[in-house]
Parts: sequence; structure tokens; C-alpha cells
Amino acid sequence: MTLESIPDRYAVIGNPIAHSKSPQVHALFAQQTRQTMVYERLLAPLDGFAASVQDFIGQGGRGANITVPFKLEAFALAQELTPRAQSAGAVNTLSFSAGRIKGDNTDGIGLVRDIMINAAVPLKGRTVLLLGAGGAARGVILPLIEANIASLVIANRTEGRALELVQHFSASTVPVLASTFGQLDRPFDVIINATSASLSAELPPVPDAVFGPETFAYDMMYSAQPTLFMQHAAQRGAQVRDGLGMLVEQAAESFFIWRGVRPETASVYQWLRGQL
Ligand code: ATR
Repeated sequence: MTLESIPDRYAVIGNPIAHSKSPQVHALFAQQTRQTMVYERLLAPLDGFAASVQDFIGQGGRGANITVPFKLEAFALAQELTPRAQSAGAVNTLSFSAGRIKGDNTDGIGLVRDIMINAAVPLKGRTVLLLGAGGAARGVILPLIEANIASLVIANRTEGRALELVQHFSASTVPVLASTFGQLDRPFDVIINATSASLSAELPPVPDAVFGPETFAYDMMYSAQPTLFMQHAAQRGAQVRDGLGMLVEQAAESFFIWRGVRPETASVYQWLRGQL
């Protein structure tokens, strides 16, 4: 094998990791853009994330996606952080070059691109309701603000967490407000479910008043069938979408960071949808 034909190595690191669809997604991107690379699954021990990353770098790893439960450790490990990683407080994309570990977060831009480009729903000037105040919610706030939304209300079961999150964005040009679910009393243009409620087949307790005839409701979770939140929103007249497109778009952004080429995502989305 000549030096030029040795593929660059990438991985997705998590625990568990067997379920991850990232290797298939990146293999499709690489094929499509003719990049010589391999992308594997790497199971890191729960107490051995940093060592696993260092091992991977030692074996020639060029970059990695980071998933549950290591996004905060990846944030701590990175020697350089992009503003969006800093704002998210978590890292899902690491790049290794010149002995440095760089951290980025592509989840939020993945969501924004899926809404604006794939669903063709504009965000500029829109009122947005974000449900949840955990890591998933925090990760999407800066990209939403950068999409020039009119305002952002963050509603959470535990109000203190929403208030805490809002404080990080007090200097933002866009108003960012905290709320309880019970206080919500008007329709929003866009509602994003960033709670983990769908994982346990539960519904965040949003009042019906948040759904208007023009509401677009997005669940960051996805499954073969519409999630409970999507069913609930659709029954109240909202247009709905699940998070599969966000998964593909965050992967495409990582691929772009590493390879400098933006893959086409529609065919990969269709392929993945067929696999569910
Ligand atoms: P993640 O990293 O996925 O965001 P997390 O930090 O554990 O995970 O946050 C989970 C989020 O889902 C929280 O906002 C949580 O609300 P609390 O802060 O009140 O715990 C929210 N959540 C989980 N199950 C929920 C449910 N059944 N109804 C409403 N909110 C729920």
C-alpha cells in the first residue's frame, strides 16, 4: 500500500456504541465525495474516555465524534474550543492535528440546517419555544440565536435549570426567557422538544395554547413511528418533524470540519429513514 492510499481514520466514541448509525452515515459521505477514510465505532470504558482518545490519536486518528456519555469530558479534554462548543458546554466533534485536540459542537447547526433547509421552515423573525434545559437544549441555543429568531422561551419541568440556562445568554441580541410549562399561554411559530421525555414514552406537559395553526413542532428524538410529542402536536394542528435530519446534518457538519467538503445529505437521510 502506498502512503497516499492509507485511509485517514475517524471514529465515533461512546458507551454504549453498538447502536450508532454514524459509521454508515460517514461511509456514505466518504463514498459520495471520494474521500479516502475509514470511520469506526469505538467503545470507551466509562472511566477511560481520555485514554481511549489518546490511544486513537496514537494510532493515527484524525478526528472523532463523541456521544453519550462523554460530551462533557470531550469538552474538558479539548485544548481549543469553537464559540459554539463553548456555548453548548459540550463537544460532539474532535479534530486531531499538529498535536492539538480541537473541540466543536455541530448538534445545534445540524438542527438549524434541518429546519431551515430540509424542512424549508424559516427561523428568522420567528418565536421559538425550546422544551427542556439539559445538555441537548443548551447545545442548540447559540445556533438558534444566530439564525436571527425573534425570541426564545426555554420551558423546563425544573424551572431553576431553565433560569440557569437563560443566564448564559443574558447578553444575547435575541431575548431569551425562562418559563415553566404551566406559564405558557400563547402559540409559538416553532417548538423544539429537547427533553428526553420521548425516550421513556412520556410527553412534556405543554399546554395546548402553545400550538397554533402555523406552528412547526420538532422532536430532537426520532423513531420509525412519529414520537408521542409529534403525535400530540399534529393532533393540535402543528406541522411536525423528527430529529433524523438533525442526526444527518450534524454528521455532515463534522465531515465538513474534517475534510473541507460538504456532503449532500438528502439521499443519506432517505437511506437512513428506510433503515428505521
Ligand atoms: P440531555 O443531555 O438529553 O438534555 P438531561 O441533561 O438529563 O439530558 O436533560 C433532560 C431534559 O429532559 C431535562 O430538561 C428534563 O427536565 P428536568 O430538568 O426537569 O429533569 C427533561 N425531561 C425528561 N423527562 C421529562 C418529562 N417526562 N417531562 C418533561 N421534561 C422531561
